[in-house]
Amino acid sequence: MQEMGTDARERILEMLYAYSDREVSGEEIAKAIGISRAAVWKHIEALRAKGLDIRSSTKKGHRLFPDADPFHAFLITSGLRTKEMGKAIVLLGSVGSSNDEARTLANKGAAHGTTVVAEEQKVGKGRLGRAWVSPKGGVWMSTILRPRLPPSKVSAITLVTGLAVVRAIERVTGGKVSPLIKWPNDLLIDGKKVCGILTELDAEMDRLNFIIVGIGLNANFKTSRLPVEVQKKATTLAKVMGMAVHRVPLIKAMLEEMEKAIDAFVASGGELGPMREEMNKRSALLGHRVRISDPGGAEPIEGKAVDIRGDGALVVDVAGKGKVPVISGSVEML
Ligand code: BTN
Repeated sequence: MQEMGTDARERILEMLYAYSDREVSGEEIAKAIGISRAAVWKHIEALRAKGLDIRSSTKKGHRLFPDADPFHAFLITSGLRTKEMGKAIVLLGSVGSSNDEARTLANKGAAHGTTVVAEEQKVGKGRLGRAWVSPKGGVWMSTILRPRLPPSKVSAITLVTGLAVVRAIERVTGGKVSPLIKWPNDLLIDGKKVCGILTELDAEMDRLNFIIVGIGLNANFKTSRLPVEVQKKATTLAKVMGMAVHRVPLIKAMLEEMEKAIDAFVASGGELGPMREEMNKRSALLGHRVRISDPGGAEPIEGKAVDIRGDGALVVDVAGKGKVPVISGSVEML
């Protein structure tokens, strides 16, 4: 059952967010929403009781400090425009890896879309057994997916998630920041990595139990917090924007875009379908010479990246061999 006045409360929250750089008076809120000042006060009290850092003064009004505290699950779910994605949010402080936390929940039957968000990870996992350093200020989140697809049809899910994150970043930055997708799992801004995605499958030969898609997005921390060898290859949204980004609207947008993109992917039977053109346009690799190591256990491949196929394979034009589709691997741009 919905709490009374939830809509008004969400609108108050949205206003406080929009003006989180200053106080908003009770009168201003009351007028904008069409409720009494006493009702505004009650809603503010209720929001504070949920753990939000809203500071009020009778003279100046109310101000939300969105990032002063670890973000609150209620903030993410409130006003979230999805059917399933992020409807259940598990917000954790310091964890080993959010992917492992999500796996434990999935094994206990957690629903499609359940999402774990961590403030920091002590043993964050990257692809190919690498460590993923995850200080406070980033977005470290893992979502449980239960798509109705066989395991052989889900290899492009990482790319689809990457596309959703790009769309979300564009949305919350008003189009100012538009990362490129470096197949198969990185997002780059000005050639530097801002996001990595780790997709883990729990499956039998022909039956998919669940997928954990883990997104590591460098939002608000200094790159000096990263290992020295990573620093020169990495960037953060804060660095690119010249100011901290609000992570809650960002996470909301990510969940909304993920639902759209993943639903479309499943509806196309595990093909990029109409997203393919956009994927190619937003690719950091197409037209570039690349070397792919460990392409499915085979010898490294070198050539020009020319296409991303409907199933998510990267097509490389290799001298003497023609167009070779690659399903997985690590890419180096030459
Ligand atoms: C990579 O580029 O190597 C993938 C990095 C994936 C990092 C994210 S952070 C959230 C989730 N939890 C993890 O332990 N890893 C993923």
